[in-house]
Amino acid sequence: MVVSVSPAASDVGLAVLKRHGNAVDAAVATALALAVTFPEAGNIGGGGFMMVWPGGGQEPVCVDYRETAPASAVRDMFVDDKDQHSHKTAGVPGTVRGLALAHKRFGRLPWKDLVLPAVALAEQGFAVDEAVAKGLNAIAAKSTTAAEFRRVYQKPDGGSLAIGDGLVQPDLAATLRLLADGGPDAFYRGRIAEQIVAEMRAGGGILTAADLAGYEAKIRTPVHGTFRGFDIYGPPPPSSGGTCVVEMLNILENFDLRRQGRFAPETVHLAIEAMRRAYCDRARYLGDPDFVDVPNHLTTKEYARKLAAGIHLARATPSVEVAPDVQLAAEGESTTHFSIVDADGMAVANTYTLQDSFGARIVVRGAGFLLNNEMTDFNWRPGHTDRRGAIGTAANQIVSGKRMLSSQSPTLVARDGKLVLVTGCPGGRTIPNTVLCVLLNVLEFDMDARAAVDAPRLHHQWLPDRVQFEGADRPEYAPLVERLRAMGHDVADKTRKQGDAHTIRVTTEGLEGAADSRRTEAKAAGY
Ligand code: DON
Repeated sequence: MVVSVSPAASDVGLAVLKRHGNAVDAAVATALALAVTFPEAGNIGGGGFMMVWPGGGQEPVCVDYRETAPASAVRDMFVDDKDQHSHKTAGVPGTVRGLALAHKRFGRLPWKDLVLPAVALAEQGFAVDEAVAKGLNAIAAKSTTAAEFRRVYQKPDGGSLAIGDGLVQPDLAATLRLLADGGPDAFYRGRIAEQIVAEMRAGGGILTAADLAGYEAKIRTPVHGTFRGFDIYGPPPPSSGGTCVVEMLNILENFDLRRQGRFAPETVHLAIEAMRRAYCDRARYLGDPDFVDVPNHLTTKEYARKLAAGIHLARATPSVEVAPDVQLAAEGESTTHFSIVDADGMAVANTYTLQDSFGARIVVRGAGFLLNNEMTDFNWRPGHTDRRGAIGTAANQIVSGKRMLSSQSPTLVARDGKLVLVTGCPGGRTIPNTVLCVLLNVLEFDMDARAAVDAPRLHHQWLPDRVQFEGADRPEYAPLVERLRAMGHDVADKTRKQGDAHTIRVTTEGLEGAADSRRTEAKAAGY
């Protein structure tokens, strides 16, 4: 089964599974298809994290293909620069090396067979749905968007896209064909690298041929935690995802949430307090482990017990009391996650991104793909701390070659060595909290995948000291919101949808796929 935001990409993955490709083969093909059919976040010019459950008793691994800062990047390069979509905001892309590394380690089918379905989608075109058409038209309409974006993503006569129009991408087809034939070196050392460098020269970017040639994806040991006898595996730094999710679950394990009920004020209060504390630690400590020492107590049960003991059961702890001295930087709009389980029980949870929707909004001239603006995930104004956002901690400041801190949280859950759940989502800093909500719904409240994904979600990120709750404007939750406010929580009136968590739950009867209905076009494809 493959669950992704794009029906065409889910179908590409499904076809690979039916040809006896494994979950990693399907993940490579799905990711490359998404780069064609979901340009706002599907990508070859960005990066992400792939969690692999190999099955057969082997330990899960994380493929870290996060972007890196170019060699000439320096700590203060954005201090006086407000442009979040410039050539300078592009990190060295990791996606192609990441997919190739996962394939080399686990794949079964030839690489080329996994790239060609994406070539076909780019060459023959696909019918754009409402979300894709709207997204592309909105960016194309901005006066700052370069002509190349309009040429590639609008109609040949320059007109905007309507629902159902075919989008043909000949430049991207040619790029993908180079990848099919030449493997990742075509991207990092060959013609595509030359095109990226030419784009950088033309646009005042700093990414060089040496940056591309030197990029490495890494196999990392996942963060591992437990919750009520379930094993939880998530990405380690440079993502904050696994650490935050495990820290929050560890705190909540100290309370009997099941007895209280899923949307009892007491349960929601404790979830908010767990979020507040974990996100404070995220800001304070987390960064690229190849550059900073990340303390290892954050995911221990003992530390969580201490934090749990500090939670007042009937009153919100003001975030400034948790830590008055640190602040966070801004994060973006769009990412995408897909989940895959194959017939032999191998599974993939993959989240990847361009950072903002359509990344830097810069199409590499002649190559037909978008560059990320992931450099904006670093803390931009070192040393400066204010209550509204931006900057602070040293752990996530820019250093040449360093990976910027992420929130991506592709997550695997097992029990007694057997896979139970595959999930993850987009949503910038809301990501670990969305994953926490889905995990609690399944692991603590016994919901099936559909109910767990549909239930309204919650977000608190330490600062600003405010709760977002998807149900805040629904009458049935009015008493809950009122109670939370009485406890001292600032619950926002306006609700914001949290990211689409395309999820697979493994049951004794088979696989339950839940394409998140927050994106109506998403599809679970299985056989
Ligand atoms: O890596 C990160 O955490 C961010 N760049 C992700 C951005 C994101 O999820 C935007 N999504 N809706």
